[in-house]
Amino acid sequence: MHVTIVGTGYVGLTTGVCLASLGHAVRCVDVVPERIDAINRGEPPFHEPKLESLLREAIAGRRLSATADLDEAVLGSEATFITVGTPRTAHGIDLSYVEKAARQIGSALRRQPRYHVVVVKSTVVPGTTASFVKAILEEASGRRAGEFGLCMNPEFLREGSAVDDFMHPDRIVIGQWDDRSGAVLDELYRSFACPKVVTTPSNAEMIKYASNALLATLISFSNEMAKLCEATSGTDVEKVLGAVHLDRRLSPLVGARVVSPDILSYLRAGCGFGGSCLPKDVEALRAYARQQGLAPHLLDAVLAVNDERPGQLVAFTREAVGALSGATVAVLGLAFKAGTDDLRDSPALGIIDGLLKEQASVKAYDPVVRGPTHALVDPRAVLCRTPEEAVRGADAALVVTAWPEFAKLQWGALCRTMRRPVVVDGRNALGHLTWPPHIVYVPIGRMPQPGNPQAQPG
Ligand SMILES: NC(=O)c1ccc[n+]([C@@H]2O[C@H](COP(=O)([O-])OP(=O)(O)OC[C@H]3O[C@@H](n4cnc5c(N)ncnc54)[C@H](O)[C@@H]3O)[C@@H](O)[C@H]2O)c1
Repeated sequence: MHVTIVGTGYVGLTTGVCLASLGHAVRCVDVVPERIDAINRGEPPFHEPKLESLLREAIAGRRLSATADLDEAVLGSEATFITVGTPRTAHGIDLSYVEKAARQIGSALRRQPRYHVVVVKSTVVPGTTASFVKAILEEASGRRAGEFGLCMNPEFLREGSAVDDFMHPDRIVIGQWDDRSGAVLDELYRSFACPKVVTTPSNAEMIKYASNALLATLISFSNEMAKLCEATSGTDVEKVLGAVHLDRRLSPLVGARVVSPDILSYLRAGCGFGGSCLPKDVEALRAYARQQGLAPHLLDAVLAVNDERPGQLVAFTREAVGALSGATVAVLGLAFKAGTDDLRDSPALGIIDGLLKEQASVKAYDPVVRGPTHALVDPRAVLCRTPEEAVRGADAALVVTAWPEFAKLQWGALCRTMRRPVVVDGRNALGHLTWPPHIVYVPIGRMPQPGNPQAQPG
């Protein structure tokens, strides 16, 4: 099938590249010329494992190309995906990118003699596709929905494993305006064996929000438990949640083997959830609930717990080093999670702000975020090229992103280069290492032990 993708961010480019790898002919449209050039050179404009090799193959096989010419792409295809951003506003989400894309697609449809399906893949609140987007498309195209197709097809991929997630989805949700629209998407996704949920556009929109709200709730629940353990002598959130994980309803016995589903990775204490989706989506769902006259008590609490977490990490670091004023803290990890270079709403940003507010100096390192500056990071923080450079001379190293390479560092030698050998593990990602006595290792989810933080309950 010939497919147009409007918006070449994490979702759009991954969708385009994966569809091309399945044999479809894909035109990717963006408004940023540098992005278009990079894609046509075979260089994804962001870090995402496995994407570059698939992109290069697709370009070499002439199954994918990028352009600024939306009209030409729409006219040459049977379906157009809207995958532009829907950033947060004070009252929900900013639909201006969706609006502009829909208007441009609609105006191209005026000249499209063939049946064409418009698919909203951007995350939008219930009702957006069937009211807002439909109205714009009808006005711009001069046609009624039905003459063109319309679907809402939410995306569940995770940055860091986007290609695998797209190629092996748990389910594909097809929110169809009418059967004819849905049939086109069903055909496009024919080779996928996963369950296909065919439903209304509003259900499709709500399914996406319900999924992300559940994940965010699990993370905030875990961090609430961590906070309780941090205030309760003799407790350790790793032991507590580790034992909760063993509930057969969470870790089922399959044959003789206990299976640990991926969902358990959300039932872990950490620095809080971040990224371009969970915080924004939970806020949008909360705003939507309020617009319906409902009080979203649980979503309020999920966000409140999350908002507190960076401050708690700063407090841990303060307790470990005595005072932050005049201290130097090495922040290890800037991305909101390992495997991505996305810093949007990363807990690292709140932590850095908190440290700077208390007059600490910050040296930061992330394996895939290259300095010397980054638009989202306070310019007073020094972005280092290696973990060694970040940690040298510091009073504490604070692990914020669970990059596997941090567990492989020679911590004994590294800590000898620090002013004070203090390691605060904001993800409990290093708890399995043996810490020599000269290092003060501070995990989260346990009561801080002044003087000897690593002497902990077993
Ligand atoms: N990033 C994720 O992990 C993820 C996962 C699931 C769903 N989503 C949702 O998918 C949507 C896209 O997210 P993203 O992270 O890929 O966004 P992004 O910000 O990385 O990319 C958006 C792209 O759209 C382009 N764009 C904006 N207006 C355009 C227009 N009129 N024509 C052509 N291109 C235009 C931008 O230049 C940019 O390249 C959002 O609604 C998001 O909530 C994101």
